[in-house]
Amino acid sequence: METIILDWLALILRWAHIIVGIAWIGSSFYFMWLDSHLEEPTVPDEEVEGQLWMVHSGGFYRVDKIMVAPKVMPRHLHWFKWEAWWTGVTGVLLLAVVYYLGSAAFLIDPDIADISKIEAVAIGVATLVIGWFLYDGIYMSEWGNKYTKFSGTIGFVGLCVVSYGLSQVLSGRAAYIHVGALIGLIMVLNVWIRIIPGQHNVVNSRKKGEEPDPSYGVRAKQRSVHNNYLTLPVVFVMISSHYPMTFGHENNWAILIAIFIIGGLVRHWFNLRNAGYGSIWPVPVAIAALIMLVGYISVPGFVGGVPEQTSRKITFSEVHAIVKTRCTSCHAARPTYQGFQKPPKNIRLESETEIRKYASIIKKTAVETNTMPLGNVTKMTKEERRIIGQWITSGMPGN
Ligand code: HEC
Repeated sequence: METIILDWLALILRWAHIIVGIAWIGSSFYFMWLDSHLEEPTVPDEEVEGQLWMVHSGGFYRVDKIMVAPKVMPRHLHWFKWEAWWTGVTGVLLLAVVYYLGSAAFLIDPDIADISKIEAVAIGVATLVIGWFLYDGIYMSEWGNKYTKFSGTIGFVGLCVVSYGLSQVLSGRAAYIHVGALIGLIMVLNVWIRIIPGQHNVVNSRKKGEEPDPSYGVRAKQRSVHNNYLTLPVVFVMISSHYPMTFGHENNWAILIAIFIIGGLVRHWFNLRNAGYGSIWPVPVAIAALIMLVGYISVPGFVGGVPEQTSRKITFSEVHAIVKTRCTSCHAARPTYQGFQKPPKNIRLESETEIRKYASIIKKTAVETNTMPLGNVTKMTKEERRIIGQWITSGMPGN
């Protein structure tokens, strides 16, 4: 009963999380675009810094950008803050439902670290809380703002340290999701604690007839730039659980950092374009980095040697015995593993037909990576992985 409720909760939360996340990132892309396409106003107006015309869904829209704030405040001012808020709320709840309340096998991999579920949850939550305070502390400090190259470097190194550290204590998948959750949390809190209050301050001083303090605007801008560069990386983490070749790799933390750099480069190229520079250098650099990464992860022999094979013929019965002891406690019509009532993803690995049918993803999850058995709860050995791999590559012979 409990797992059914958790499954449905996860479905609803994930659905909502994606919808509000699209609304947030979509509006942030839209405002970036607006800012970069402003022109001189058609009718000169000393307040208006830039203007642009658009046509959409049967109407024409004219937008005027006014800096720092209009002299007379409009009756209704629309704020863009709820998208970020709800993305944060649904994200935290989803993390709790899937990783903290769900099966411990998602969170812990005893081959990586044999810790208890409570310890794993404490590590996850502490990373999020401490991570935010360190980040915010750096950028609220005087030196952090003065030497931005230095604070930027600390921020990046900090992210590497968190990725590495988590990959040594949590399962690959949980380590990735916690790095993503930390970045997402930083982005949400940037909006709620640093950007929006700054704008409120500007509005309030205008209403009181005072000149707004421009330092709020400077801080808001800095946090927006951070959020901007973090967008593409955080979206990757959200879809990463579909790609075991990344989080299941033995150097998963380094792969994550590489993907962050590639995402950041692509974002940088958008920004350069939006700022009117024609430079395209980030694109070839990102493509070259991606090719190297694909080679490193997926091309046997690209680094190190090709795994050795035995000349002995592997028969189905040998493979069947392995799958039976290592996989079917979960992947069966009636799983016996605690916390599972149905075969995960409806994948059953009981009969020969089923095993053959799923061979290619079995290879991906249990041979090329160690993502299955989940959390290696059934203690599958390296040798067993090699045997299954060889059986599949040699054309899956019968008995
Ligand atoms: C502790 C229970 C458990 C055991 C044991 C287990 N699995 Fe899984 N398996 C899962 C869960 C849970 C999922 C769904 C993961 C998800 O939601 O992404 C899954 C998903 C899969 C998938 C689909 C992956 C995808 O991305 O679509 C394959 C293939 C798979 N398992 C193969 C295996 C094989 C092969 C074994 C044995 C070597 C095995 N599993 C052992 C729990 C288990």
